[in-house]
Amino acid sequence: MNDLAQLLQSAQAEFAQASTPADLENAKARFLGKSGQVTELMKGLAALPVEEKKTRGAEINQLKQGIEAALNARRQALLDAELEKQLKAEALDVSLPGRQRGTGGLHPITRAMERIEAIFGSMGFDVADGPEIETDWFSFSSLNNPENHPARSMQDTFYVDMKDEGGRWFNLRPHTSPMQIRYAQAHAKRYAGQETMPEIRVIAPGRTYRVDSDATHSPMFHQVEGLWVGENISFKDLKSVYLNFITAFFETDALQLRFRPSYFPFTEPSAEIDIMFETGPLKGRWLEVSGAGQVHPQVIRNMGLDPERYIGFAFGSGIDRLAMLRYGVNDLRLFFEGDLRFLSQFK
Ligand code: PHE
Repeated sequence: MNDLAQLLQSAQAEFAQASTPADLENAKARFLGKSGQVTELMKGLAALPVEEKKTRGAEINQLKQGIEAALNARRQALLDAELEKQLKAEALDVSLPGRQRGTGGLHPITRAMERIEAIFGSMGFDVADGPEIETDWFSFSSLNNPENHPARSMQDTFYVDMKDEGGRWFNLRPHTSPMQIRYAQAHAKRYAGQETMPEIRVIAPGRTYRVDSDATHSPMFHQVEGLWVGENISFKDLKSVYLNFITAFFETDALQLRFRPSYFPFTEPSAEIDIMFETGPLKGRWLEVSGAGQVHPQVIRNMGLDPERYIGFAFGSGIDRLAMLRYGVNDLRLFFEGDLRFLSQFK
């Protein structure tokens, strides 16, 4: 190997070792600088005879080009490495999920209520709202509850430390049935003295309270009361309305409805409504969803209406129960604990 080839090799080796642009410029100076090795070779040409000068000059030029090429290649490599490093440092993981503003959602019970309101609304039912702190009269007496009925007892009903004009404790309503009386009274008053009265058709969804707490009972729960009063309303209307409602609510016709005899002071006859799904995970089991019955004549009277003329049906369904069945939730308490991991599934 001649001296020029050796020089090229050592330049390449030194450039390769330079790990920063400054190192590289220093290495360059050692070969191409004012007193660099290639420059020295050029200076040496002057002493050579003309012929030799020509060939040697051409060889040195070639060497110079080779060194410059190696230099440029190394420069580029260092730039690329620098860029690579920077990109890595500033890397964005485009596969990460975006950071979004948390979007809220409606509570599953609110969703169930809205469904119920929409379905009964489509059947011509008004939606009414009423007080959760009730008088003894509306929660019990007007609904034909005898003085000593167990529903009145301290074990079942929350009482408020405040008495009404009759000296009776206010209560947290243990059912939505007081709304039957409140709504029907207002309706009867509005049409008092008129020849005919439009039918009463209303649902009253809302919070209710009882001294009770386990996987299927919460001290605060939700009911929806339904009431249809007119001159010619019968149990068959109750059945068709309720069947319409329940098939719309669960979005399936593959279910059966059953009326089981029961007792409520404010209805006569009274029934529990059970449903049974013909398909799905709950298939084949009778599930109680509502109390119901024909409004008791005394209750019709307490509404301010004539029981000889008016008749109707009422029902009171557990909204939480319906929501549990619809969403496949097996512990009622999940609805009220406020755990976002549970609640955000309903968004
Ligand atoms: N109020 C009853 C309850 O809470 C349900 C019901 C309502 C029954 C209307 C009959 C008619 O259990």
